[in-house]
Amino acid sequence: MEFHLGYTVSEEFSVDTLVCGLYQESSFGELGLSDLTTRDLEQQAQRFEFKAKKNQLLLLNRPQGLAVERLIVVGLGHEEDSSLPLVRKAVGLAFRRAQKQKASSVALNLESFLAQDSTLFDLITVTVQGALFSQYSFDHYKSDAEKKRVSIDRALLLISYELDMSELEDAIRIGEATASSVLNTRDLVNQPPSAVKPSTMVEAAREIAALSPNITVKVFDKDQLTKENYNALLAVASGSEEPPYLIDLRYTPANSTQKVAFIGKGVTFDSGGLGIKPWAAMQSMKSDMAGAAAVLGIFQALAELEAIGQPLTIEVHGVIPTTENMISGKAMRPDDIIQTRNGKTIEILHTDAEGRLILADGLTYAAESEPDMMIDFATLTGSAIKALGREISAYMGNDDELLDLVAVASQMSGEKAWELPLPDEYHHFIESPVADLQNISNNSLSPDAIIGGLFLKEFADDIAWVHLDIAGPSFADDGKDPLVARGASGYGVLLGLELLKLLSLAEK
Ligand code: BES
Ligand code: ZN
Ligand code: ZN
Repeated sequence: MEFHLGYTVSEEFSVDTLVCGLYQESSFGELGLSDLTTRDLEQQAQRFEFKAKKNQLLLLNRPQGLAVERLIVVGLGHEEDSSLPLVRKAVGLAFRRAQKQKASSVALNLESFLAQDSTLFDLITVTVQGALFSQYSFDHYKSDAEKKRVSIDRALLLISYELDMSELEDAIRIGEATASSVLNTRDLVNQPPSAVKPSTMVEAAREIAALSPNITVKVFDKDQLTKENYNALLAVASGSEEPPYLIDLRYTPANSTQKVAFIGKGVTFDSGGLGIKPWAAMQSMKSDMAGAAAVLGIFQALAELEAIGQPLTIEVHGVIPTTENMISGKAMRPDDIIQTRNGKTIEILHTDAEGRLILADGLTYAAESEPDMMIDFATLTGSAIKALGREISAYMGNDDELLDLVAVASQMSGEKAWELPLPDEYHHFIESPVADLQNISNNSLSPDAIIGGLFLKEFADDIAWVHLDIAGPSFADDGKDPLVARGASGYGVLLGLELLKLLSLAEK
């Protein structure tokens, strides 16, 4: 989709659809439409009980005095409750509706979406994101072109006459760069597991590194991993025909004073290992690399933001342990004991709790470069889904300041997260009679999401660290969210970027 800024819907930029937002405190008269159209809208609103509530839609065909085929008004709820993520969703909803009506070009009245405390610049960025997210679908494998979704290809963002367009163009570019990073993350996760192997993750990392002279990539292969004692990662990989890798990405902008490490779980398929999953639970386990894909998405955005002259000024380290979790005569067994890179021994009670094993080595490696903070993204437990559902991730950590920062980044990005505790009292769940740790608790009624967090904490090495269990929000099983088609969501990319933005603002 191409985005343009404009002052009015002119001849040269004719569109078939006009989109306006409406807060409950506003009236149709404020949308700057003709008296006739305003009256028609009022009538339609009465008929369909449109009250401008959040997510309500009103459609008017052939509005009088307007050179468009249809007008769509999307309800924004109360202005005082407005937020950028809410506007992003409303735009997405309106664009999905327009797409359903076979629209191909849309003009959007920006001012009608503007709430008191947001800037036009940020509003444009989320508008671009909302429009692009709403049109996404993964149809690479559909052979019938007719069945592919037709999407809107032009959007005209309308601003008022007195404003200067040039600075606002940057807001469009930022929206495009971040949205394309999220959508590539979705693509990578949505690809079937036979198309995305650990080696594919390596290729994807190399492609992203090639986008910027400030990004470097280093890859550890199986021999190096063996030499350097990444035994937890190797144990998980031992049942697979595909070799594992540890990917190290670094973004080093000029003048950075802080260093953040992102670690992503990169299990390209999780069969459960010898403790094999039942078939229904194995479905969608191609998405067990969504954490790794989010880290790649963050790096793509770092490169693209730099390319458009909007670089983030924080040093970022990306660490991705990547493997399959499969079955063979060589697979790790329950009862096996392994020694991780940092020397701790782990008794394997369950081969399906593999994410924490590869992250143990991943966190150890990340901690070795002494970042100021570490954030891991991992599809770690079904328990996090049961607790918080598909919209909200579970996060936990060892540092209150960083936990607060993640909470703010979550709110700003609209990627919802809820904190879980990591109580010392629960440490006994991971104490093994024969090794330093065991990878699950013996008790079937135990808080698995928290236990996963407690286990990872053992490898954070006293560095400020937060773990996001994204098993729920990384994958949408219904597609009801106007911004997320059924499948991967790209969760984590926007939250991570928002966190980096907050850190760079604090620095200035
Ligand atoms: N990859 C799964 C977690 C998962 C479940 C992600 C559903 C997305 C959707 C993870 O490796 C796993 O199997 N976890 C186990 C842990 C348990 C054995 C303590 C689980 O949640 O059942
Ligand atoms: Zn598993
Ligand atoms: Zn897994």
